[in-house]
Amino acid sequence: MSQRICQASEVTEKGREYRVNGEDGPFYLMVFRRGDNLMAYHNACPHQGRSLNFAPDRFLIGDDGLLVCAHHGAAFDLDSGDCLAGPCKGSSLRAIAIRVRDDEVWLD
Ligand code: FES
Repeated sequence: MSQRICQASEVTEKGREYRVNGEDGPFYLMVFRRGDNLMAYHNACPHQGRSLNFAPDRFLIGDDGLLVCAHHGAAFDLDSGDCLAGPCKGSSLRAIAIRVRDDEVWLD
């Protein structure tokens, strides 16, 4: 079952958070823009499973472009989801398959 998440044009480099209904119940995902590309991940840090943002729709993005978990500073590459530094280095964010059609983002 496909589910609409948002309009693609509302997603920025700073990221947005959305609540969606998955097969196992509702969960939060985060969507980021890199140029024309959008990437989505579960908003759950591999370190302790906490959401990475510090306030609604507010994520820490370093000058190097890495997403930094607001709780203990784990730093993630947004293209791969890999944790490059911090307490869960070597683990990864859980990627969510999305697709964009007519400026609408859909959960696959
Ligand atoms: S919960 Fe993200 S670094 Fe600890």
